[in-house]
Amino acid sequence: MSMTRIVGSEILDGLAADDPAARRSRRDLRRVHRVMGTRSIIRRALRGTTASVPDNRPLRVLELGAGDGSLMLGVARALAPTWPQVELTLLDRQDLVSLEIIENYARLGWTVLVQVVDALEWAAGTTGSLQKANGLGRWDLIVANLFLHHFEDSQLAVLLNSITEKSNGFFACEPRRTWFSLAGSHLAGLIGAGAVTREDAVLSVHAGFRDKELSALWSADPDEWQVQEYSAGLFSHCLHAERVGRS
Ligand SMILES: C[S@@+](CC[C@H](N)C(=O)[O-])C[C@H]1O[C@@H](n2cnc3c(N)ncnc32)[C@H](O)[C@@H]1O
Repeated sequence: MSMTRIVGSEILDGLAADDPAARRSRRDLRRVHRVMGTRSIIRRALRGTTASVPDNRPLRVLELGAGDGSLMLGVARALAPTWPQVELTLLDRQDLVSLEIIENYARLGWTVLVQVVDALEWAAGTTGSLQKANGLGRWDLIVANLFLHHFEDSQLAVLLNSITEKSNGFFACEPRRTWFSLAGSHLAGLIGAGAVTREDAVLSVHAGFRDKELSALWSADPDEWQVQEYSAGLFSHCLHAERVGRS
């Protein structure tokens, strides 16, 4: 028996950035990432991504729903020794990235730009496309973690379509919608998670993905894109897409 996908409003999304319960939940997220093995899943997926990027310019990377930017910082620490310089844009509808996080990126040679905007507005292009405004062309890579599951399928189709237009590569890591993940989400208290995270963890699994659900919403020309959708670790479900013959 498979679970139907249900997108519910997560509590964290309704809290102000400086609400103590929101701060607590964002701290909990770091533990959740450890349990989900998120950093190594992302690192493994991204390791070969720079192969066809010219080495005379920085890699342009965008993270959608980046939160406080700390997850990607851990990934950056692992990738920095073998990657070219990176210009990273952290996009979230809340303003959550601290100066300390930006300085930590800078120590790795990564420059960070923070964009506070709703991703659906970004997708619709109503906020002005940053990369076009800068005349830079497509993003080399767009990344999302625990983000796509916030959206209903119709919104996801719009978001993914925009990603195909604006990037040469995309990687998303999301909750896997299985009974096993659901059982795990009910145990979030065991890793010390607070009430907000305990509730959101369960909602996230119900809104998560399985099988080829994300590929089904990925409408790009299959001759132009190589797409893989797969399970990773105990609780994650990933979509990895790369433009073949980049232009
Ligand atoms: C579960 S958190 C994940 C944060 C980060 N990616 C991580 O894994 O630590 C989801 C993030 O998505 C952001 N978010 C949710 N809906 C959004 C939207 N429509 N546009 C932009 N950001 C959004 C939230 O503000 C939140 O920071």
